[in-house]
Amino acid sequence: MSEFIINNKCVLNGEVSVSGSKNAALPIMAASILVPGKISLKNIPSLSDIDIMADILKCIGASVSFHGDLIIDASNIENSSAPPDLCTQIRASFLVAGPLLARFKRAQVPLPGGCPIGSRPVDLHLKGFKALGADYIIEDGFVKLTCSELKGTNIYLDFPSVGATQNIIMASATAKGTTVIENSASEPEITDLADFLNKCGANIKGAGTDTITIVGVKELNPCTHSVIPDRIEAGTFMVGAALTGGSIRLKNVNCSHLSAISSKLAEMGLTINEFSNELSVSSSGIKKHTDIKTLPFPGFPTDMQAQFAALMCQSDGTSVITETVFENRFMYIPELVRMNADIKLDGRCAIIKGGTQLVGAKVRASDLRAGAALVLAGLCADGKTIVNDAQYIKRGYDNLEQKLKNLGADVNYIL
Ligand code: EPZ
Repeated sequence: MSEFIINNKCVLNGEVSVSGSKNAALPIMAASILVPGKISLKNIPSLSDIDIMADILKCIGASVSFHGDLIIDASNIENSSAPPDLCTQIRASFLVAGPLLARFKRAQVPLPGGCPIGSRPVDLHLKGFKALGADYIIEDGFVKLTCSELKGTNIYLDFPSVGATQNIIMASATAKGTTVIENSASEPEITDLADFLNKCGANIKGAGTDTITIVGVKELNPCTHSVIPDRIEAGTFMVGAALTGGSIRLKNVNCSHLSAISSKLAEMGLTINEFSNELSVSSSGIKKHTDIKTLPFPGFPTDMQAQFAALMCQSDGTSVITETVFENRFMYIPELVRMNADIKLDGRCAIIKGGTQLVGAKVRASDLRAGAALVLAGLCADGKTIVNDAQYIKRGYDNLEQKLKNLGADVNYIL
């Protein structure tokens, strides 16, 4: 069980270069199944989730290698059944279902299972596959999909699910005819997937809006693509500057992906300056209280609410976080309370009393973003904080320990 140790509080100052987006890289890696030939992916972060997706692709017959860029050649894939031992480790493994179904007219993929933040169903993914002409059964924990051919159609998503939107885009890219996804997710990671597939010869329009049109094409060809910066890693460092009273300049960011985060930090009294692909965050010391409601993009991202909760503990009043996307995303709160936070839970709301000095303690990461929030809390707490189960953090943050050290933090990561 690994530990992330924060030896004492600090002020984060300096520059940090944000890595490529985990949540853009994972679907694009899955989409490589659709593209016979050698694709080259740039700006891929070094994360355990990326390694697991690479192993899944290797298991089904793709060649995958890292030479600075990530090179994937799916020409010789023959196996349409994904490996359960690897798939059950990451939720994003279910994103191979659409590409496998499109390429082989069948797919056998383990149900990704729930995780700490919620049950994580895949009913909307299956609704899309069925609408495109596939049949499926769920047996022994697997979804077993078959079809004679996939035909374009209109699909309404009851919730703008990121994963379901991605799976339907991949399943329909080479289907016969046109597919329209209504009430689709509009996250930047959806747009990046569409950009990658269009570079390979797909015909996808409307990505980034709530209606996406995919005109099926006969085949896709390899390309080179650089994934977008990780907006959640960027947001995490922005909160780090706010919470420690420092000033950080972030490089390799897309400011338009950070609007909700920047707006909320500005409401709290932070100074945000945007440049072409850089952004600076400076604290004047004051942290005004504010309220947050998580929503699908362009609303406030659910992946940032834990980090803001740590910041709100220091604000000048009471703040409320309402979580509307996942049903169980407040597991970090008892851990913050162990650090002297004053937070009450009321259903989907967390009521956070400001003006509390956090105190270092032994705490436990329940999931990736909870772990990041606890590290941030340790950076402004009196005394030492040890975050157990810190392997969760490695899933989504590329070299967080070194990046924080470069900004002035006294931290260690122990395997
Ligand atoms: C993606 O998960 C991200 N993961 C999550 O980031 C992120 O929190 C989430 O989108 C929301 O933005 C990746 O991209 C790998 P959803 P995903 O399908 O696709 C319900 C992180 O920390 N739903 O948009 O699984 C679901 O239960 C991770 O980087 C259905 O009901 O999210 C949830 O309540 C955590 N039926 C809501 O939709 C379905 O078929 C949002 O899920 C699918 C989803």
